Amino acid sequence: MLKVSFASQRPDGAYALAIPAWSEDMVSERLAGFPEPARTLAARAADAQRFERELAAIAETFVDDGGMARRVLLVGLGGKRDDEAIYERVGGALTAKLLTSGETKLVIDLTGLNFDGETATRIGFGAAARSWRHDLYRTRLGRKQKPTLEEVIIVGGGADAADLWSDRAALLDGINLTRNLVTEPANVIYPESFVARCREELEGLGVEIEVLDRAAMAKLGMNALLGVAQGSENEPRLLAMRWRGAADPDATPVVLVGKGITFDTGGISIKPAQGMEAMKWDMGGAGAVAGAMRTLAGRKAKANVVGVCALAENMPDGRAQRPGDIVASMSGQTIEVINTDAEGRLVLCDALTWAQREYQPKVVVDLATLTGAIIISLGHEYAGMFSNDDGLSASLASAGMETGDKLWRMPVGEAYDKIMDSPVADMKNSASREGGSITAACFLQRFVEPGVKWAHLDIAGMVWAEKPGHLYDKGATGFGVALLDRFIAENHEAK
Ligand code: BES
Ligand code: MN
Ligand code: ZN
Repeated sequence: MLKVSFASQRPDGAYALAIPAWSEDMVSERLAGFPEPARTLAARAADAQRFERELAAIAETFVDDGGMARRVLLVGLGGKRDDEAIYERVGGALTAKLLTSGETKLVIDLTGLNFDGETATRIGFGAAARSWRHDLYRTRLGRKQKPTLEEVIIVGGGADAADLWSDRAALLDGINLTRNLVTEPANVIYPESFVARCREELEGLGVEIEVLDRAAMAKLGMNALLGVAQGSENEPRLLAMRWRGAADPDATPVVLVGKGITFDTGGISIKPAQGMEAMKWDMGGAGAVAGAMRTLAGRKAKANVVGVCALAENMPDGRAQRPGDIVASMSGQTIEVINTDAEGRLVLCDALTWAQREYQPKVVVDLATLTGAIIISLGHEYAGMFSNDDGLSASLASAGMETGDKLWRMPVGEAYDKIMDSPVADMKNSASREGGSITAACFLQRFVEPGVKWAHLDIAGMVWAEKPGHLYDKGATGFGVALLDRFIAENHEAK
């Protein structure tokens, strides 16, 4: 990962230099430290590239710096505002530009902008987040495809930047754990190996880990979850990761629940071959929960939080569950399995029941790549949020806006809920396509106990990106980790 550090002055030697500018700034003033010819050249080059200091836009020039050809990147900050993680985007844009450029070192000079340490660390965070890649299996990468950028030094950003950095570094560790889990194929990450990775990453940080295997779950009556797993050679697991950071380690924790389908073929209601490989990331909710736990423990958050992952593989097989099968969930409610491809809600309902009985939480947030329908509704800009509580959804939405993990609230309610009634059981797991994300949420809500504040985040459109974003390359985004970290910090943490 990119090394990030902070300094009060520019270092000597070779590096690319980035200079941020607000849209109302004069470029030549931001270049005040340069000799006149270099200043004029950079300002003219920026004009020629029609650089108007738009957020994250970059104009590139080389200037003569004491006989050296110095690469100078003018980077726009846009108009003054502070939403949608603008500073992170500036750092991310610089990394995207330089990652494989041949440059090894980047200096971002904030001198004259009066940015505090917080802002400087946000720029550094964006730069580091955008540098993550998963090249493990790419044995034949060409020389020019390999990353060269190793280090970012942020100059002039407030004396407390270096101290504030450790929390951001913990956030990066969490996001990158999520991205690795999401990226690894299903022959590498299956329920048991998912658990093993989490143990490796979390136990050393003081996270308590509890794991239920098939037998333990059978004993508890988790037949909805087990039904999904019964066609797979890979055993299911229920993973609980507990972080006790509050002054009272036994105080009620916030519970996070993640859908961890390590591969979703659809089961007997099998999916079409086209694009099925994407279903290796059907554990993105569980991945985000694991990453959030990594971050919270890494920065020693003063909160009690439990992350619960419902891990299983959904396969067709001679023993697989059939459409029409009726299963009794741990809650006692029975479910007619109309479509074995609506498996996420089946594993989540038992995980929700188990977590509520085990921890008596007041707040439960679940994350799941639950429905294709949410991608039809919201595309890849917002995750869908469903909740029984206005306060909880408002806090989550604002944490989302601040971190860039954006959420859009969708409805739940009786009219939708009754669509899930079954003539032969308490409910069915799938109905018509209309409002598919909403009826899925209503299904889950049937397992939320009275008095519990609950939110369900349908992140199917957010876990994987077909094109690069501000803070990630194509592929795993790490969606949800920054959101959950911020949500805990702002709502459940002693200051
Ligand atoms: N994992 C899928 C949802 C999904 C689809 C996630 C595309 C990411 C991209 C989920 O298990 C599923 O198959 N849902 C069905 C539900 C239907 C059968 C009621 C769907 O969305 O079609
Ligand atoms: Mn499915
Ligand atoms: Zn699925």
